[in-house]
Amino acid sequence: MHKPFIFITRQIATDAVERLREKADVEIWPYEDPPPKAVLLEKISRADGILTMLTDPIDSEVIQAASPSLKVISQMAVGFDNIDVSAATQRRIPIGHTPGVLTETTADFAWALILAAARRVVEADRQVHRGIWKPWGPEVLTGLDVYGATLGIIGFGRIGQAVARRAKCFNMRIIYYSRHRKPESEQALSASYMDLEEIFRHSDILSLHLNYTPEAYHLVNRERLAVMKPTAILVNTARGAVVDPEALVWALQNKIIAAAALDVFETEPIPFDHPLLQMDNVILTPHIASASRETRHRMAIMAVENVLAGLENRPLPYCVNP
Ligand code: DGY
Repeated sequence: MHKPFIFITRQIATDAVERLREKADVEIWPYEDPPPKAVLLEKISRADGILTMLTDPIDSEVIQAASPSLKVISQMAVGFDNIDVSAATQRRIPIGHTPGVLTETTADFAWALILAAARRVVEADRQVHRGIWKPWGPEVLTGLDVYGATLGIIGFGRIGQAVARRAKCFNMRIIYYSRHRKPESEQALSASYMDLEEIFRHSDILSLHLNYTPEAYHLVNRERLAVMKPTAILVNTARGAVVDPEALVWALQNKIIAAAALDVFETEPIPFDHPLLQMDNVILTPHIASASRETRHRMAIMAVENVLAGLENRPLPYCVNP
């Protein structure tokens, strides 16, 4: 009997792979770097299922190359902007993803960045590591009080709301913008809706949690940054392309805003000569907001559940396309 062939584009939790091996021949791309396009094209041309990461460009070319027997594309991430959903839908290929499991982990990390940027933790740590211990002084490494500040949240879905829940313990004023107003969550979290232009003006800390769609491209641009408070901090754990990097460099260099903490970039990895790397008031991390051991394990299991459902012609438990 034909055993289905599954290609996994990165090493994932061994027990998750074992579940797949019970039903399929599994090949795992063994390197840390994503498989080159040519490899994706070749594997998908004979796969019954493919388990992908957000760094794999599953564009229309890759989808057109898919074997007629490809039954599922399962992405180990909640975001899927690397996948051409409409091309896959046209070919009736279901796409799975991993929503929900990473909500709290990502919100924790957004908070790690909020606190670190507001209180200049990374800058202070760098100074101590370099042997620069400025004597205690009234102005040395002073930052922004998070307690009682105004937190702006753009994108008020699962993660945005998890960030807001934590903000309540910091007695923050919570304002949010989302494409659809959410009266029940507003009430539960004591959050106020604000339109997009106003939220930039009023936030002490502005944290981005929207899904990436083409409309979100460079939503944080020069005009919007220009109205922010000079003490404000921008935090991005959503998708890099939401922020215009040139506008952000401009805003930081000209002290239009005070600081930024970014886990995601338009080009990942961010080029080593990018001006953001030269700035002390910028914290940069390599897209790790969901990277706790427990969450990555749960994401792998969910991604495998989607593959198994696809192979068995069942609806995917966590499906992206209609
Ligand atoms: C996602 O899942 O989309 C995050 O960016 C990485 O876990």
